[in-house]
Order: sequence, then C-alpha cells, then structure tokens
Amino acid sequence: MMSTDPLWYKDAVFYEIPVKAYADGNGDGIGDFQGLIGKLDYLEWLGVDCIWLLPFYPSPLRDDGYDVADFLTVAEQYGTFQDVKRLLDEAHRRGIRVIVDLVLNHTSDRHAWFQESRQSPQSSKRGFYVWSETDRKYEKARIIFIDTEKSNWTWDPEAKAFYWHRFFSHQPDLNYANPEVQQAMLDTMTFWLDQGLDGFRCDAVPYLFEREGTICENLPETHDYLKNIRRRIDASYQGRILLAEANQWPTDVRPYFGDGDEFHMAFHFPLMPRLYMGVRSETRDPIIDMFTHTPEIPPNCQWCLFLRNHDELTLEMCSGEERDYMYYTYARDPSMRRNIGIGRRLAPLLDNDRRKIELLHSLVFTLPGSPIIYYGDEIGMGDNIKLKDRDGVRTPMQWTMDRNAGFSGCDPAQLYLPVVADAVYGYQAVNVESQKEAPHSLLQWMKRMISVRKRFPAFGRGTITFLRPANGKVLAYLRRYDDVVLLLVHNLAESSQAVELDLTAFAGTTPMEVLGEARFPTVTERSYVLTLAPYGYYWLDLTLTPSDGAYGIEQMVL
Ligand code: NOJ
Repeated sequence: MMSTDPLWYKDAVFYEIPVKAYADGNGDGIGDFQGLIGKLDYLEWLGVDCIWLLPFYPSPLRDDGYDVADFLTVAEQYGTFQDVKRLLDEAHRRGIRVIVDLVLNHTSDRHAWFQESRQSPQSSKRGFYVWSETDRKYEKARIIFIDTEKSNWTWDPEAKAFYWHRFFSHQPDLNYANPEVQQAMLDTMTFWLDQGLDGFRCDAVPYLFEREGTICENLPETHDYLKNIRRRIDASYQGRILLAEANQWPTDVRPYFGDGDEFHMAFHFPLMPRLYMGVRSETRDPIIDMFTHTPEIPPNCQWCLFLRNHDELTLEMCSGEERDYMYYTYARDPSMRRNIGIGRRLAPLLDNDRRKIELLHSLVFTLPGSPIIYYGDEIGMGDNIKLKDRDGVRTPMQWTMDRNAGFSGCDPAQLYLPVVADAVYGYQAVNVESQKEAPHSLLQWMKRMISVRKRFPAFGRGTITFLRPANGKVLAYLRRYDDVVLLLVHNLAESSQAVELDLTAFAGTTPMEVLGEARFPTVTERSYVLTLAPYGYYWLDLTLTPSDGAYGIEQMVL
C-alpha cells in the first residue's frame, strides 16, 4: 500500500535506477521498461518506497541521457510511452513511487530547439539558448567538467556565435532569462506529472540563470523560478516531490528549501565524502563537523543521504587537503579518478569489507535524512575502471550467475556495456539470486535494515544530538521523535573499541538493540560502557522501561 501521508518522502527509502542498466526485457542487450517492470517484485521485496529513474528520453547518449534531444517522449530502445504508464501502474500497485530526472539546465545540441536556434539570429528559438559574439562573458563562472572542457563557451560555425554551456560542449544551456524557456520547461514538468509520476530529481539546478559579475550559481533569479515550479505543483498535484541536485556547501543548498516552498528534498553532497573520510581516518570529526555546518531545514523538507550514485564520487565539496587524502586513500591508481572525483563503486571503495559496507549503510540509514541506494550496491556489485567516463559504475545489474548475469538473453557482444566478470565482483560471485538464497548475505542484511528502519519514524523525522565520548573513534548520537529515543553507536575503527557514554538522563532504562532484539544492561547514574567489534554498530532503543517485557518469553500466558 502506498502511504497517503503528503510527507511520505521523509520516511522513504529511495533506490536509483538507470533503465538501461537494470533488466533487458526484449533481448537487445539494453535495459528497458519491460525488463524493469519485471523486477518490481524484487524492489517491493527489498522494501524500496520510491525509485528514481535516470533520463530515458531520446538522446545521442554523449552524457548517458543527460543530453536530452526531446523532453516529451521515451527513447525507442527503452520502450514506449505505454510502457512508462504500465510501469507507473505496476509500481503504484506495489506501493512504490516513481520519480524521474528533469534536466532543466541544458539540452543536447541535437534537440530541435537548438537546431532551430543556431540557424539564424531571426530564428524563433534563437532566444532559447545563451548566444554571444564573444567568449569573454561570465568569466567568473567555473568550468565543471574540467577533465574535458576548456571553456563554458563554444563557437558554433552555423550560428556564427558562441553558445554557453556549463557541462559538455554538446550540451548547450537553456536561456532562463527567456520567459518562453521558463514556460516550456514548466510544460515539460506538468506533462510528466499528468502521466502520474511522483516527482522529479532536478538535475544541475544551481546553474539555470547567468548574471555578469557573479559565479553564475545559486542566483536569486534561479530560486524565483524554482519556487514558481513548486507553486505549480502545489496548486494542481498532490504528494509529488522535487529533489534537488545542487552539489554545493550546506549553506548554499539551504536556500533551495526556501521556507518549505521550493524543494522538498536535496542531496547532502558534502556529507558523503566525509563518511568515507571518517571510516578511513577512524575519527568521527569530519562527520560531526559537517552536521555542525548543516543549517536547520523547514519541517516539511528532507535531506537525501547517499553513499554512491551514477556519477564519480564527487570531491567538489572538499578542501584541497581533503581531496588529496581521498585520492590517496581511495584512488591511488590514477585510472580510478574521474573529473574531480573517484569513479568506483561502494564495495570496491571499501575493499569489499562487509563490515565497512554495513557500517556506512548504518550511518546513511540513521543520520537525519532519507537514504537512497544506488542499484547493485545492495549486493555489493563491483566496477570496471577500464571503461570510459563514468561507465565503470553503470554496468548491467547482476541478477543471476547465468549468461550476461541474467540481465539479458542477448549475445554477450551485444550488451550496452560488458558485465563485471572478475573473480571477486563478477556475476558468478555477486548476484541477486544467490544472495536471496543465503540468509546472511549483504542483500538479506539490507532488506532487514530497511524493514527495521521503517519501524522508527525517528530516523526520518527526529532531532539529532551528538554525544561526545572521550573515544573519538566512536560516533554516537540520539535521534528523538515524540516519545521515542534511539541511540546509534558506530565504531569507525578497524579495531575493537570501548566507549563510555553519559546516559544519566536515561537512568533506569533498559536499552533494546533493535537489530538483534537483544536487551542491554540497564542504564544507571554511572557512565554507560559499551564495547564494539571492529566497524561494529548498535541501534539501541532507549524508549523501553525495565518493566516492559514485551519481547520477553516470561510475558507469555500459557
Ligand atoms: C548531473 C548528472 O548527475 C550527471 O550525470 C550529468 O553528467 C550532469 N548533470 C550534466 O548533465
């Protein structure tokens, strides 16, 4: 059953899916809607509440679909419009919501608008893009894709002018100063909402407007437009959400929530690398520090917490020193680096160490926000760093140990990308089918964590208080919501640790470890001592009282 709560996203577990990579229904080597529909039972079984689909629109695929050539149709290789509708029906029937990418900032240079725009200064679409006779405008704007682009301007011989682009040179930026562009993209949005979609992950929102003398990011006019989008949603649609991709510092992301009248959610980009730093340096400081610098958000808003996604593990929100540390510890081999970041998946980043994989998931499941899982990370899929751009983390989902990992029945040479086939992460070793069979697999663990998380609204809605025990390798915090108090304790170290916590405020309570349903010693007026295995963690419910024997066999009436 789908929750009817308009704030559903505050408790939801999200899951990111590139349609191309998930399941191939027609055997052509490319994932499609038919294949994805066939996997909804799996997503329901796992406990996912909302899936985010990467762009599935017609595209020359020079930026894996973020170079959109037509916003209003479905790329042939993924299926038809009817397939999308069927996906929505089938997902909703299982209580799963569906959000999709809305690429507001730019189009492909193959888009009909651009083709028309470049033809002549008199073209009706000329004003849809940002043209200039010189490439010396907006010089304060940084180049985002520094490994491929030299400038934010590219000369177009047909238009005999330069056009502005914040990403690849084949992705011209739309000109939001033009009300017609504003309207066209609003229409795009309502078109998809009318099909029954549950919202959008809005791509690259900081860059919509340009203004001379500024860095052309996070401008007030950009916020005005985004608020306008939100008004439109609130006026005509219920329960739909907008999720911002704004790779910025928390103080710059905060305005994207407005007064609860702009985005419902935003990814917490700067937190992500600090989770990796914390576990590698065995100190909680970078993580707590990031929360100290994270402003409060309105009550109807939510952070989206993630460990990995389809892009490189971005280090844009790191100081030079932090970046060097991350490269040194996680990407010593330069071929693992991509742009300002690291092109690897979660499991290889963590040396395939199940303890570390669990620990980091435990953090994103219990820190303030809603977690999002990148497809395949629930089984610990590996990557292929030899593939170009970010393809190494976009390989076919590994379903079984059969041909092509059960992803497609095609000739292996026809696959859109090769399956991972090495000895450690290859599909024979890592796949859904075998992990479903094994009660203690990572997949079964994830399913269980998701279901336990759902029992406690405090994770999505509660306050957070960090405890500061003397042992800095231990990260402990309280999450409170209504009468419920949870204590989360994480050992970031490779060695066993003991920690003394000041829990005197809870004296008399007998904590319950909710993952194992085990009672812990009653809290007294003295410091509370816990020992943790290497990379160990506890989810303790402090709400129960000593007289509460609801879990005890002695309560059974025979
Ligand atoms: C952000 C997307 O996540 C990324 O994959 C893409 O390359 C850029 N936007 C540019 O479209």
